[in-house]
Amino acid sequence: MRTAADFPMNKKEKPIGIFDSGIGGLTVLKEIFRELPFENTVYLGDTARVPYGIRSPETVTRYSFENARFLISEDIKLLVIACNTASSVSLDAIRRSVPVPVLGVIKPGARAAVSCSKNKKIGVIGTEATIKSSSYTRAIKEVDGDVEVFSLACPLFVPLVEEGWSEGRIAEMIAETYLNNIRDKCVDTLVLGCTHYPLLKNVITKVMSETVTLIDSAVETAG
Ligand code: DGL
Repeated sequence: MRTAADFPMNKKEKPIGIFDSGIGGLTVLKEIFRELPFENTVYLGDTARVPYGIRSPETVTRYSFENARFLISEDIKLLVIACNTASSVSLDAIRRSVPVPVLGVIKPGARAAVSCSKNKKIGVIGTEATIKSSSYTRAIKEVDGDVEVFSLACPLFVPLVEEGWSEGRIAEMIAETYLNNIRDKCVDTLVLGCTHYPLLKNVITKVMSETVTLIDSAVETAG
């Protein structure tokens, strides 16, 4: 397998800029490193203002513009909005106002979910702001209007991960309580619509069963 060491940094090449509300977007950066080890990157984690998921669309959009402006000042050639919440509420506005191409995580995750699902029942979990925006439901329905989408906000998942409690009884009890509802809908695919959720994969799989495919938007965006 190729690693970054096989591709000496080309200082002349402009970097890809990536931002998230905090460190969760490092899951996206890691996948970009894996897929594109020869690219230069600049990562901005807005740890001073995390979490975004409980804030209004106006506030998240304002933060996203500030992050985008900072990365543009770093002379990036492409902007990746790794944060699902920011992608959900501000992608179009950012796209209209920056001079570089902008990628979000919602469409790649939605496309992957539709191509994985056999029974056309897809679950989506994310922050309150992401779920309220219906961004995943819209994106999934754009790909296939026959799919049934069951979405659920899981607000305690982010603090759980931040606390380092991604495994164990507390995580399992919280996941069980949230996911019961979605499990009862017999979804065969579940979109992890938040940068923190891949870190809860083991617990989520235990609750949902191994037969449910988990879609990691970070992996799909980098690919
Ligand atoms: N980065 C956010 C997301 O993917 C999760 C953390 C937050 O609420 O800021 O939605």
